[in-house]
Order: sequence, then structure tokens, then C-alpha cells
Amino acid sequence: MSAVVVQPYTLLDDDECESRILRARQALGERLVILGHHYQRDEIFQHADFTGDSLKLSRQAAASKADYIVFCGVHFMAEVADILSRPEQVSILPDLAAGCAMADMANLSNVERAWRELASVLDPDAQITPVTYINSAADLKGFCGSHGGIVCTSTNARHVLDWCFERREKVLFFPDQHLGRNTAYTMGIPLEEMAIWDFDLPMGGLSVEQIKNAKMILWKGFCSVHQMFQPEQIDDFLARYPETKVIAHPESPFEVCQKSDYVGSTEYIIKTIAEAEANTRWLVATELNLVNRLAEQYRPEGKQVHFMSPSVCMCSTMFRIDPQHLAWVLENLVEGHVVNQVSVAAETAEKARLALQRMLEVSP
Ligand code: 13P
Ligand code: SF4
Repeated sequence: MSAVVVQPYTLLDDDECESRILRARQALGERLVILGHHYQRDEIFQHADFTGDSLKLSRQAAASKADYIVFCGVHFMAEVADILSRPEQVSILPDLAAGCAMADMANLSNVERAWRELASVLDPDAQITPVTYINSAADLKGFCGSHGGIVCTSTNARHVLDWCFERREKVLFFPDQHLGRNTAYTMGIPLEEMAIWDFDLPMGGLSVEQIKNAKMILWKGFCSVHQMFQPEQIDDFLARYPETKVIAHPESPFEVCQKSDYVGSTEYIIKTIAEAEANTRWLVATELNLVNRLAEQYRPEGKQVHFMSPSVCMCSTMFRIDPQHLAWVLENLVEGHVVNQVSVAAETAEKARLALQRMLEVSP
């Protein structure tokens, strides 16, 4: 197995790649399924058999009968596809360097350390449910599986937290503080009952009192793409176009979500704008490729879709999946070679599957 794109592919232009991708797809037929996350660039997105947010795509991966699941997204998504699919199916990420910077902010060693440190104040396995955002490595999902915990996505975070609080009094939520805070706040948990766990500091930088008082312990992780959105950007825009509806992904900061009319996952954002009345104006806080696609798609209906930030907020790792990498993996499959397989070790996968299945059961 090689993880490097062989040189001839990097030299191909996008048009040449496109026709080679189409030929390879035809040759592979039903043995292949391509899943595409909404943040993928158009040149890739157009080739997806199924598009969606993290939840929808994980369901597609679980339901797929194809031999090869080529995931046009980021690494944790391809891991989930491998965990939820049958053992003989192969999950492939066209560029193995397409990671998620937020997912990397939590790892098994700093989460296990947090759990040990929390044990000096509480009985974590009786009092705290660990919740990992799906944007995390498989071993963290495994950690949650073994400690009575669960996975969540931006679509089902509310249902997942309800499930948690029916069982234990506190939640340790990693790696995204914003999704945790925004969701818990809408459930009526005040900010005073949320504490930030700074994973670089002993005891997360918290006092015993703060830990005892917290209902939500929020990992100090964030998405640098969504962290760029600011409440002032909403104020400035509304001053010019007061009729605008504002919609944000829950990875955005608390103040942005508070000022937004709607908050939800990428799939929710698409659905809301699709179902909106014609001739409406939208200010959107999520990744640029998706916002540009929405602007283009709904212009004929007179819908004006604007990106919230004045600077470019693109997910650079999603962008790594390009036509050259896709052509390379597909043509290798046609030749019977699997390149860039993402495979989770059986023991980790078993524990992670438990946490993912709990999530799928509580998801709407
Ligand atoms: P969605 O589940 O809303 O697609 O979000 C995934 C993600 O990585 C957003 O940054
Ligand atoms: Fe990760 Fe942010 Fe990119 Fe989503 S947008 S994949 S959270 S870095």
C-alpha cells in the first residue's frame, strides 16, 4: 500500500482527471460508493453518490453494500465508515493527510489523564458521561464506548446530551467546546455550570470547587474555521441589510450562535435555506465551499446567500481531497490495488462501535 500520489497524477489537469474518474466509476459500478461531505470542493462533490453531514454519511457508510467506500471528507469520517461497515468492505480516504485540526486537539493520552485527574475529585464512571464529537479519532470513540459514553454529531448533540443526563449528573465533552456549550445552553444549562478543561494544565486548570459545580466540562478544543466568525460581523451586516436571516453551524462561538436566527449542522443549514421563501437574504456561518454552493444554487430563486466573515474561512484539510487524488485511488481500484485504506484495529473498532451505535439509537 502506498500513501503517495504517483507523479503522473499530480501533473494531470482537472478536466483530464474528471474524465478518468468517470471512466473508473463506470468500470467499478456497484462495487464502489463515493461519499462526499458538504465542505468538499465542487470538482469532487459532483462525483459523490451520496452527500451529507457527518451523521447522514455515517448512516450511508453503515448501509452501503459496496466493496469500496471512498470517503471524500476527512480522516475521522473514513474511520467511522470502516467501523460501521462490514469487515470485508474497504474504507478509503483519497489523501491520508486530510485530517481535522479540531479532532487532533484531543487524544487518548490527554483524555485518559483528564479522567484520572477527575477521579481525584469525583467517581467519573458513576458521575460523568464522556461524550466525543464525531470529529475525533477512533480510540476516543473507543474510550467513550468503554466508559458508558457516546458519540455525537452537530445534528444529534441535543438528543445525546438528554441521553447522558438521564444516566449521570455530569458530561465531559470533547474536543469541541463550542458545540458542547451551544447545545447545553439551549437545554437550559447556564454558563456558570459549564467549566473549560484546559488540557495543557494539571486538573484542566480547574479548582475542586469548579469541577464539583460543573454540569458540563468542556474540552478546550475548537474549529479554527468556525472560530473566525464574530458577532460584530452579524451586527455590521444587519446594519446594512436588516431583513437578513442569520444561520450558524454550532461549532461557531457562543456569541455568534446567540445572535443567529437558526443554528444547526451543515445538512440543517442546507435544508433551511432550501425551504426558505424566495427573495430572502441569508448570512451564513459555516465553511466557504458550502456557502458558495448555496449562493450559486439558490440565486435563481432570488435568495441572496452571504458568507459571514470578510476573510476566507475554508477547511484546508477538506480541500486536500482533489481530483488528482480521487482519480489515483479509483484507477488503482480498477487495477485491483487498494491505496490509502483507512483501517481501525479490531479491538478499538469494537469499543468505538458501541459508542457509535448508542448515538445512532438516540438520533432523530
Ligand atoms: P456536520 O456534521 O455539520 O457536517 O459538521 C462536520 C464538520 O466537520 C463541521 O466542521
Ligand atoms: Fe475539522 Fe473544522 Fe474542518 Fe470541520 S471545518 S473538518 S471541524 S477543521
